[in-house]
Amino acid sequence: MSKPISAALSRISPSQTAAMTDRALALKERGRDIISLSVGEPDFQTPAHVIEAAKRALDAGQTKYTAIGGTARMKAAAALHYARDLGIEVPVSQITVSAGGKQAIFHAFLATLDPGDEVVIPSPWWVSYPEIVRFAGGTVVPLETGAAAGFRFTAEALEAAITPKTRWLLLNSPGNPTGATYPAALLRQVADVLRCHPQVLVLSDDIYAPLIYTGEPHVTLAALEPDLADRILTISGVSKSHALTGLRIGFAAGPAWLIAAMEKLQSHNSGNPASISQAAAVAALEGPQDFLADWRTRFRARRDLVVAGINAIPGLSTPVPEGAFYCMVDATPHMARFGDDGTLAMHLLDHGVAIVQASAFGGRDGFRISFAMDEASLAEAVRRIGAALA
Ligand SMILES: Cc1ncc(COP(=O)(O)O)c(C=O)c1O
Repeated sequence: MSKPISAALSRISPSQTAAMTDRALALKERGRDIISLSVGEPDFQTPAHVIEAAKRALDAGQTKYTAIGGTARMKAAAALHYARDLGIEVPVSQITVSAGGKQAIFHAFLATLDPGDEVVIPSPWWVSYPEIVRFAGGTVVPLETGAAAGFRFTAEALEAAITPKTRWLLLNSPGNPTGATYPAALLRQVADVLRCHPQVLVLSDDIYAPLIYTGEPHVTLAALEPDLADRILTISGVSKSHALTGLRIGFAAGPAWLIAAMEKLQSHNSGNPASISQAAAVAALEGPQDFLADWRTRFRARRDLVVAGINAIPGLSTPVPEGAFYCMVDATPHMARFGDDGTLAMHLLDHGVAIVQASAFGGRDGFRISFAMDEASLAEAVRRIGAALA
């Protein structure tokens, strides 16, 4: 076969977080004792009332197609979430619902990018952003950030990254893989830059918004700078905040033309998001939210355990993540021994801990730890990392 796969698919690589998770699983199945801190998924049980809602929907026979962009009830629940949790007042006509936040991002880029269009993405970045942009034919323009500046870019660096070809700026706060948040002061500066470049759209991925540990409220660009709202697509969902990763529900709120374009694409792709999952997501958003305070307390304790443990290991350092459930660890002093962080990741796997190398996220010389795991396992993982590097 002379042309086995398309040019578009040749431009992208498989997800390295999924690859490491699969590798760890395969080793576990062969009897190896592996603590897997590679996957981005809360280990908490899905709230019981959400599971009950899914069962009720099944019993009520809600097993048929729904509207492409979600049921009216689902969109209303998403609108409630945007207003209550993100401070964005948006009509249901400007909301669409997809099979996870990932699909919404995929559709947004596929619907808008042409070859040569540039997308500015702060790095380290979530693994899927650059791959989706490249698949859609766009060019990734990295906006490098580092631990010393709290993984935040400056307005000057953003201005320098924008060209006449820039179509999108991507913002992700709290961020995967750094846990960094963008304060209002930075977002105001971003808005000032954007006002000088009216061709630039913003994809603000706020999927981790309910998981912030600073006590500060979440801030997002569309709420802070409403005059820019007609070019901001705000992504959210229930995967991370409500432990519903497997049900695959995510949403997007933005300008009507873009929402219509995304639904046009979805109509020929997956069609509607799963009907039962929509019923569960409605219950998740309309039901009690008080469990979140408990989850935040528990995530915060785990974060503190991992940060203290990692920073006590010679040659490793990590800043304190403000949100999400990841720590980005710098291992530069160990690079002379390992050569690159992929080799370091394999070495740690040999010592019973699965993490993901920083280079998978557009970073370097380190690794990401997901601390969505019980405290005893986290303590043991940190001990193994220390022993592996001693
Ligand atoms: C930053 C970020 N955005 C979006 C997603 C997609 O979430 P889902 O498609 O599971 O809703 C993830 C999942 O890992 C993520 O880390």
